[in-house]
Order: sequence, then C-alpha cells, then structure tokens
Amino acid sequence: MHITYQQETKIFHLYNESISYIMTVLPNEHLGQLYFGKRVSEGKDYSYLLEMRSRPMAACVFEDSKLFSLEHIKQEYGVYGTTDYRQPAVEILQENGSRIVDFRFKDYSIVQGKPKLEGLPATYTETPDEAMTLTIYLEDEVTGVCLELLYTIFELGALARSARIINRGKSEVHLLSAMSLCLDLPDCNYDWVQLSGAWARERHVKVRKLEPGITSVGSMRGHSSHEHNPFVVLKRPTADEFQGEAMGFSLIYSGNFLAQSEVDTHDMTRVLMGIHPSCFDWKLESGESFQTPEAVAVYSADGLNGMSRIFHRLYQKRLARGYWRDRVRPILNNNWEATYFDFTQERLMEIAGKAKECGVELFVLDDGWFGQRSHERAGLGDWVANPGRLADGIEGLAEKIENLGMKFGLWFEPEMVNKDSELYRAHPDWIIETPGRSNSHGRFQYVLDFSRKEVVDAIYAMMEKILGGAKVSYVKWDMNRSITECYSKGLPADRQGEVFHRYILGVYDLYDRLVTRFPKVLFESCASGGARFDPGILYYAPQGWASDDSDAVERLKIQYGTSFCYPVSSIGSHVSVVPNHQVFRNTPLHTRANVTYFGTFGYELDLNKLSEEEIVQVKEQIEFMKKYREVLQFGTFYRLCSPFEGNVTAWMAVNEEQTLAVVGWYRVLNGVNMPYSRMRLQGLKEERCYKISGREGRYFGDELMNIGMITTEYSAGEENEWDGYRGDFDSKVFVISAAD
Ligand code: GLA
Repeated sequence: MHITYQQETKIFHLYNESISYIMTVLPNEHLGQLYFGKRVSEGKDYSYLLEMRSRPMAACVFEDSKLFSLEHIKQEYGVYGTTDYRQPAVEILQENGSRIVDFRFKDYSIVQGKPKLEGLPATYTETPDEAMTLTIYLEDEVTGVCLELLYTIFELGALARSARIINRGKSEVHLLSAMSLCLDLPDCNYDWVQLSGAWARERHVKVRKLEPGITSVGSMRGHSSHEHNPFVVLKRPTADEFQGEAMGFSLIYSGNFLAQSEVDTHDMTRVLMGIHPSCFDWKLESGESFQTPEAVAVYSADGLNGMSRIFHRLYQKRLARGYWRDRVRPILNNNWEATYFDFTQERLMEIAGKAKECGVELFVLDDGWFGQRSHERAGLGDWVANPGRLADGIEGLAEKIENLGMKFGLWFEPEMVNKDSELYRAHPDWIIETPGRSNSHGRFQYVLDFSRKEVVDAIYAMMEKILGGAKVSYVKWDMNRSITECYSKGLPADRQGEVFHRYILGVYDLYDRLVTRFPKVLFESCASGGARFDPGILYYAPQGWASDDSDAVERLKIQYGTSFCYPVSSIGSHVSVVPNHQVFRNTPLHTRANVTYFGTFGYELDLNKLSEEEIVQVKEQIEFMKKYREVLQFGTFYRLCSPFEGNVTAWMAVNEEQTLAVVGWYRVLNGVNMPYSRMRLQGLKEERCYKISGREGRYFGDELMNIGMITTEYSAGEENEWDGYRGDFDSKVFVISAAD
C-alpha cells in the first residue's frame, strides 16, 4: 500500500495490492480523477487519461482554448456553474448571494495511518502500517474558503474519503451541500444495486441498470431509514456474486443521506455520497470548519462476494470497536415478543429461569420497565424503574438474573419522550418542533432535541445512574420514529439548517460517553428493527437488531441483503414463536434456528411455552451455536444462492485456517419429484480433505467447490425417501470440517 506524487505530471497514485486510485491537478488547478479500479503499475505517467476535446456547445474555462470544459472532465470534488452542470459535491452560498466557487490546488500531505475525524464515527487504524492518508489542500481565493480532501487507502482493500471545509475568509458563508465522496467514472455500463425496503422488510436487494440522468436513494427522515440504506453498488452487468467488477460505496453516517449516480450525455458517471443536501444549510463563520462524514469505496474484481468480504473485514475490525469487537456474542433471550408490555418481575423471572436451563447467557428486558410505561402513550423519557412492576428495581432484578448465572440487559429509547412523562412536564421545550406549527407524533412519541447539549446531558445522567447502579451488561438502544417539523429552539434562525446533522452528532456524543463510561457493556442498536442499521452506529454498537420481522423466511432476504455490506457479527437475529407475529407463518423450529445462527443469535419468546421435544431441540441449538459461533460470526462469509432469485437460499462461513465451515441451506417451498441438485461451496482449501456432518465419506475442497455438495431432496413416491422433516420451509446446516 502506497501513495505517490509525481511532481512533473502532478499525478497522485494511491494503491494497495488490489486497487489503484489515480488523480491529477487539472490545468485550472482543480483536482481531477483519472482512474479507480484494479491495481495498475506504479511510476507510470497516466496524464494521457486526461482527455480534453473541443466539443460543440461546450462552455470553456480558458479564454484562448476550446479544449477545457469541466463538463467533460472527470473531477474529484466537482462544483457547479463554472462549465460543469452536474450535481456538485459542494455548494457554498456567499455574502453577495453567489454560489460560484473555484477550489484550486495548494498543497498536499501524506501520513502513515489515519487521523481521527473529530466527533464522527470513522474507520481507524491500530498500527500506522495498516493505511496511508493523503490530504489535498485547495482554496477558493475569492472567499478564502479552504477545502481539504482526505483519502485513506487501507491495506485491507478499501479507500476512505471525507472532506473538510474551513472558512479562512472574513465573511460568513453557508454550506448548502458538502458531499463525502464524489467520483467521476469514465463510462456508465453498470447495474446499480441498492438495499431498500420498509419496516419489517429492510435491506432487500434491488438492481437496475444505470441510464442517462440521475439514479438515487436517500433518507430525509432524520435517520438512515428502513427505506434505503446508505450503501450502493455499481457492478458490471456481467458481474455476479463470484466474479466481475463491483464497486461498493458506503457512508459512515446515521442521519439524512444521499447516494446517487448521474450519467451524463457522454456516458460518464458521477457518484455522489454524503449528507442529504435537502434541508441542509450549515453556517460557517470566519474561522469555523465543517467535517463531512466518511464514505468508504471498495473495488472488487471478484464479484459481489469479493466486495462484501472487504467491507466485512474493515467494518468488523476497523470500524467496530471496544471490548466486544472480537468477542463472540452472548446468546440472549429477549422478552419483547414473549410479553410485550404485559409483565411483572415474577413473570420475567419465569422466562429467565427457563432460558438459563436451556443454556441462554443473557436475559434482556425490553420496553416497559420505566416510568409509567405500561403502553405506548406514556413514560418515554423517565429512565427510572417502575416500582409497581419491578419491586426490586433494575438493581434487584439484575442481581436476581446474575444469581441465576446469566447476564442482564436492558432496553432504552434515549432520544424520545412521551408527552405523558415527568421529563416532558419538566421540559416541554426540549422536543423538536417548529414554533407556531402543529407537531406530528410517531407512535405517540416526540423526538428530543439532541442538537442541544443540555438535553443529551440530562439523558446521559439518567442512563448513567441506571447502568452504574445495577449489573447491566447489555443495552438495546432503540429509536422508533422519524423526525418531523425539524426545528431547534436552541439555535438561531440562520442555523436551523444544521439541526438534522447536529441531532446525529448529539446521538454520537451520547453513545460515545456511554461506551467510554461502560466499556464492557455490549450495545445493540435498534430503530423499529433496522431503521438505523448503518456503519455510523456500528462504530459505537457492534451489533444491531436487523429487523422487527423475525420470521425465518422473511429473514433470509433481510439477512442476505444486509450481508452485502455488514458482517454477520453485526446482524441481530432471534428465534421467535409460531405463528410468527409479523407474517403469521408457521416455520419449523430447526429452520428458525438455522437462519438465526448466521447472526448474533438469541430467542425472542417464552421458552416455558415450548413442548418438551422443542426444549430438547432448543438446548441442542444453543449447544451448536456455542460450539460454532466463532466461525459463524467471525469467519469469512460467502453468499451462495440468493433468496431474491429462487426457492433456495444458501450461505456459508469459513474459518481463517480453512479447516472448518458451516453451510446454511434453506428451501422455502417443498416440491415433489424434484431435480438433482448440487451446491458449490466457497472458501475451502482445494487440496484439503473434508468431512460433512451427517454424511459418510471424505471430500476434497476442490470437489466441494468445483463439483459441489449434493443437495438433492427425495420426495414422495421415491424409494429413498426423506429421513427428517417433511414440508415447506425446510433447511439444513452442514458442518464441513477438515479430515485426515
Ligand atoms: C421497537 C423494536 C422492538 C421492541 C419495541 C419495543 O419496535 O424494534 O424490538 O424493542 O420497539 O417498544
């Protein structure tokens, strides 16, 4: 991994073993993009890649030449209105009303490692040799506004980018847009892949071809959203899971975002990613600066799986942090679907007692333990135990759970308040609402104004008291509504465009204080399921509740889509009851567990309600998970067969030594008299000999990967009929282990 600068050609080349990123200083001193893709030779003069042509109708920068029009030039941080008409990376409103800027190259610096982004989640290095960072300094001389573009190239195969805008001029300016990443690509022969959905069906894989014009996804809800994830892929139409070019773009941010591709008439593609410019207006007084969130770009020549593997490694090891980063996750039992709001301490102890008997390690008390919270309309904001429900308080309950031999976890929704709460009665002005306008609710709750420090301080104090006063080992941090009528009473009129971003900074601040104060507490993020399942939150909470939909069949799509960017260790997954509470489907217990293994694993039910035979199964499942969770959560993950393409889904995880793998195979509907089928595996050692759990014989890695593992099912009327479960929603998990 290296970064070079050629003085004569003014070319920067960032490269590691697999990728190259090449830029140049353009004739007008702006920064131009020459290449991003598979690694190419170092030391070569790539200036010929700057193609300049005299095109009809083009507006040109230099008075004496028709060759240089920014419209036709690939840039690194494009601006609008000085011969380029595409959506810009940055827009600055100045004192005289102009938005024209002209950022010219001044200098650059290169350091080993990666500097921290103040107040923002970001990838990091542990040793300086893991990455190198290039900062390019540019300046708009008329306003005195300076731009710093940061590029970190990781050994791990990814490139992180962000921008900093500093007002060194005398007058204030307004930043109306400041993207984290702008990348101009030379052609448009790409499929655009996005992860989209809604509550309870998050992150479904959607693919469409890029066409001239804009293709985009984003969120303006105040959180990254169920609807779209801050992650997109451009892949060649011929690329698939296993081969071909794929570029992934991911924004390490949890608020309003925009990810878009703009294809111009000459088939160039501009990728933009960053804070959504709608509703964004950041005032920069003289001397102030603004740091954008970080975006990560990954290029893979090995298809979508290759791209995902790079994201998984980077996000698992160099985005997630702390005590739990590298530790297998405790098997938990959460009471939400078991009781909803209807519980007492005794009832919780019954659930916990059975969980312990089955081998569960962590009991989690969900919503309803605090204030007057016995229904949706009251209590949020009052983070003190309700003595009517919990006679011994959180301290006493936690102690009891610990005495059972389990850890104790607790649900919070720190950013919210009900009007029927002590907190609201004391501080009615602490919510986000626009003066003189009606204020909409979501689930009867209102959003606390986390752009104000005193609000964050107050919530921190309450949470600190609970967590510091009781043996709480895990926190589920929920967030159950979008922001409406966005306005902060703590900010002047000309700073109201800052509220959405300041709100998220407040969320990060609270997270940061809590994880610093309670470094061993495991944080799981949640937002009505997966409305804030994004890399920003992953920096603080190493796992996230992927969806409120816990149906095994639904989860195939949700977890498959989620795995495009996020590691298995981050995907919160629970076995729940049947009929399922979201889709009312009956799936067999073994399939519910087989899907859940490829996640953090837990139960969201009252185990007392299961039959004796089911309890035997649950005990086996927990034993299985304890035995294999290291490889399941931290192994190399491969998607084998997509639920978006057919009746069968399959995926697998392989340990680093390639001596152990677990394959998950799932069939939605049963069939009759079905075809022969084989499943080709991935990631094994070709010449190594393996055995497959439940099967006779030995197989070489190359056999299993090139020929495949037999998955033919036998059905009615055949001599060799099934041996186990018969019916829809079947699945199997195979353990592949190295044999002599
Ligand atoms: C959200 C979460 C659920 C549960 C409820 C409690 O919907 O996603 O898991 O915690 O809130 O109200």
